[in-house]
Amino acid sequence: MKTQTVLITGASSGIGLGLTKGFLDAGYNVVANSRRVTSAGTLSPAPDLLLIDGDIAEPATAKMLIEQAERRFGRLDVLINNAGIFVPKPFVEYTPEDFHRVLSTNVHGFFHVTQEAIRHMQRNGGGQVLTITTTLAQQPVAGVTSALTSLTKGGLNAVTRELAIEYAAEGIRVNAIAPGIVDTPMHRPESHETLKKLHPIPRLASVQEIVDAALFLVRAPFITGEVLYVDGGAHAGKW
Ligand SMILES: NC(=O)c1ccc[n+]([C@@H]2O[C@H](COP(=O)([O-])OP(=O)(O)OC[C@H]3O[C@@H](n4cnc5c(N)ncnc54)[C@H](OP(=O)(O)O)[C@@H]3O)[C@@H](O)[C@H]2O)c1
Repeated sequence: MKTQTVLITGASSGIGLGLTKGFLDAGYNVVANSRRVTSAGTLSPAPDLLLIDGDIAEPATAKMLIEQAERRFGRLDVLINNAGIFVPKPFVEYTPEDFHRVLSTNVHGFFHVTQEAIRHMQRNGGGQVLTITTTLAQQPVAGVTSALTSLTKGGLNAVTRELAIEYAAEGIRVNAIAPGIVDTPMHRPESHETLKKLHPIPRLASVQEIVDAALFLVRAPFITGEVLYVDGGAHAGKW
């Protein structure tokens, strides 16, 4: 019988879709969320897979996700904050709408869902939070104009360490994965040749490499407060 349940946001596409399949294969129950996960056509409901539509920027979505996970599977053991958007522009060209949109998903979404999840984990005596950030927050690259990514994902790397310290004694581990460029629908295939050059190991990451890192962290009981770079070495320096 399955005993562990994971909630994955942004599950309809790319990394979140790979995480959903990978955790199901690894024997977890999965609660998969995105704004349109039930109609995206990428996942079908199953006894061990609950699909829930909802915008994570809304506090009501966070409450609903945790309640539904508890009702269907009894408890929530792991939250993976994966949903995120990328709006690359020169800093001075960002509009107030861009700023609001990126903060809504990347920061408000993290805040509401993580707060509800940690409250639940406190009641249940432990759990884990894993957040997908980006290596660009640590290692900006000339020509890759991504200030709103650095502003939001950099904050998520910092709060990962803060929450790890705040909740370690309560049995709640908090980690992040900072990928380089991953081969997902976020990037047009025509851009891949250029994007490969953003890594010292000159290729894109596969979704499976992010899934493998997530499974490693979730199964590593003495690791917390870690930001694990899966970026072909990009965070290490210049190349
Ligand atoms: N791909 C990369 O190169 C790369 C590199 C570094 C970090 N990352 C990070 O990895 C994560 C996943 O990226 P990806 O490439 O897999 O992206 P993707 O293929 O564009 O998928 C994004 C997912 O997030 C969902 N989503 C977006 N806004 C949402 C919201 N407000 N509420 C709920 N769900 C929402 C989307 O579904 P709906 O449209 O149905 O909501 C979709 O399932 C992001 O946080 C991204 O920043 C990606």
